Amino acid sequence: MTNKKKQILVTSALPYANGAIHLGHMLEYIQTDIWARFQRAQGHECYFAWADDAHGTPVMLSARAKGLTPEELIDLMNEEHKTDFRDFGISFDNYSSTHSQYNREQVEYIYQRLNQGGYIERRNIKQLYDEEEGMFLPDRFIRGTCPKCSAEDQYGDSCESCGSTYSPTDLLNPRSAVSGSKPVFRESEHYFVRLCEFEQPLKEWVSSGALQSEVANKLQEWFIDGLRDWDISRDAPYFGFRIPGTEDKYFYVWVDAPIGYISSFRELCERKGLNFDDWWGLDSKAEVYHFIGKDIVYFHTLFWPAMLMGAGLRTPTAVYAHGFLMVDGAKMSKSRGTFIKARTYLDHLNPDYLRYYFAAKLGPGTADIDLNLEDFVQRVNSDVVGKVVNIASRCAGFIQRKFDGKLSDILPAPKLYNSFIAARNDIAADFEGRNYQSAIRRIMSLADEANRYIDDEKPWQQIKQEDQQEHVQRVCTQGINLFRILITYLAPVLPFTADKAAAFLGRDINDWQVLDQPMLDVPLNAFQPLVTRIDPLKIQAMVDDSKESLKPAEEGAAPDDAMDIEDLADEITIDDFLKVDLRIARITAAEAIAEADKLLKLTLDIGGESRTVFAGIKSAYDPATLVGRYTVVVANLKARKMRFGTSEGMVLAAGPGGKDLFILEPDPGAKPGMRVT
Ligand code: 2FM
Ligand code: ZN
Repeated sequence: MTNKKKQILVTSALPYANGAIHLGHMLEYIQTDIWARFQRAQGHECYFAWADDAHGTPVMLSARAKGLTPEELIDLMNEEHKTDFRDFGISFDNYSSTHSQYNREQVEYIYQRLNQGGYIERRNIKQLYDEEEGMFLPDRFIRGTCPKCSAEDQYGDSCESCGSTYSPTDLLNPRSAVSGSKPVFRESEHYFVRLCEFEQPLKEWVSSGALQSEVANKLQEWFIDGLRDWDISRDAPYFGFRIPGTEDKYFYVWVDAPIGYISSFRELCERKGLNFDDWWGLDSKAEVYHFIGKDIVYFHTLFWPAMLMGAGLRTPTAVYAHGFLMVDGAKMSKSRGTFIKARTYLDHLNPDYLRYYFAAKLGPGTADIDLNLEDFVQRVNSDVVGKVVNIASRCAGFIQRKFDGKLSDILPAPKLYNSFIAARNDIAADFEGRNYQSAIRRIMSLADEANRYIDDEKPWQQIKQEDQQEHVQRVCTQGINLFRILITYLAPVLPFTADKAAAFLGRDINDWQVLDQPMLDVPLNAFQPLVTRIDPLKIQAMVDDSKESLKPAEEGAAPDDAMDIEDLADEITIDDFLKVDLRIARITAAEAIAEADKLLKLTLDIGGESRTVFAGIKSAYDPATLVGRYTVVVANLKARKMRFGTSEGMVLAAGPGGKDLFILEPDPGAKPGMRVT
């Protein structure tokens, strides 16, 4: 390891401002945070700055669904997100929002530079437009069949099945995810960044070692396909920054989102008096690292560096992509209670447990990470509590009770101590290379050695012998010192536990170099249990709570990008739901079927079309009272032949049956034929 002090800026991807933070997000923030804390522990000047990703159609629609303005929604979410991060021990130096004034200025500046450089082109394009909603449809709000592999139900910009990216107009059988209607083509003027201009410098950047090999390989494929111009404008209605010189064109959210990395850092510069150009200027010697999920590699390895190049700013030192979080071997599922929000986790469990488990699983690549809940309990209990903390608790009692809380003045096994120090470089190299799982393996094997040492020395037996008192003090001093090394190595992973250990040891443990000097002949503070075992019942309670939190009001009405990796495995997707064509119907006639116990024959007006529906509501309704009333009907249910005729739909009703059956009735104002969404 070099001792030269580095200037390092790290970022995580910016979470969307329309949803709660969940454990999938936390995987990335914990990965980033461990790295940042590790760098600081090596004496480097390392900052962690990021922000909420506040713009875009999903935020606009979420706010609308909640009866808030977008500004109100993003302010609320910003506070909530920051609280979640703090409580998870994420040591960020600044957390902002892409809707900030700094970001607006930065976006306008970069745009201006691109424009002056001749990289912006305007041309009319035809795009899918939702006539019912009066809006152009963002890629993610169009679903259809992948043009490359024919997988159905894919987003408008990329296929989750074959991984290809394309333009939404290439999608086969497109549908609007907002209204369900079939979108139409409409023309409007758009602004483009001419990416092909950057092909050569991008290729150079890619081969500079900025990317993991699997990501670099993916990029080669994109280069072979050829870089298409990037559409950076969106038409109103849109929540974002207006493009200077236009009335109704906005910057696409993916323009101002990564620029948020810069403007959040700029805020930090103001606060700390840092020189911004030292970090982002072309001659910067600082290092800039972006931690992201593998689903947003394209944005960070093509669009983002191209924008920076065009604007005369430095490019990132590296972009590190990680895999998705699975829970119990499957995508996170709301119905199984494995779609766990950060807050729900914190309501039940110590954040260090999850930080440890993620670290034990994270490697440098893009493989998915599985949070196996049983293994989680077992691993944390056996490693953190059973191995590491155990070393301290085995030794602290003797030191407190028998030796006035004071450590001896020599180590009885200096070689063992030195071998723990000698592991420092390998462990540091693992952290540096984001191979946390390897670092953890090494640390745990040292913990095993420390425990073996205590087992062999048996202080609990020796303490009974008068002439062994001094030796016991030394053995326990050795144990405490080994613990100190281990908890120092683990401090980036276990900040809360490490803080308690620091209080017990009476010294700061965020510096790896001071470990060269063992702690001798000094007093210890009272030992408090540093971390307790995970009670499996708490896991169950957390899972149960995650099921409970599936209340419609909390889910928000709008589909959003934040749902990318949130599979609703056992649930239906918005598209499944949209397959059900629910319509307002007016009951124009109703009669009882004499031969049937339960059925009424209803004639429904569903907006200029008449339907006959046999509804099983006879026990609850006198047919005469139904005529003229409004209700909701499933209008695209396959017609069913029944004994008394063909039923052409289904009326929605609630209740257990008998007298307790209630047809759904809309508020006044709803008209026959209106779509229910
Ligand atoms: O995919 C996402 O969740 C985006 N909000 C990430 C943005 S990262 C950066 F570019 F701002
Ligand atoms: Zn495909």
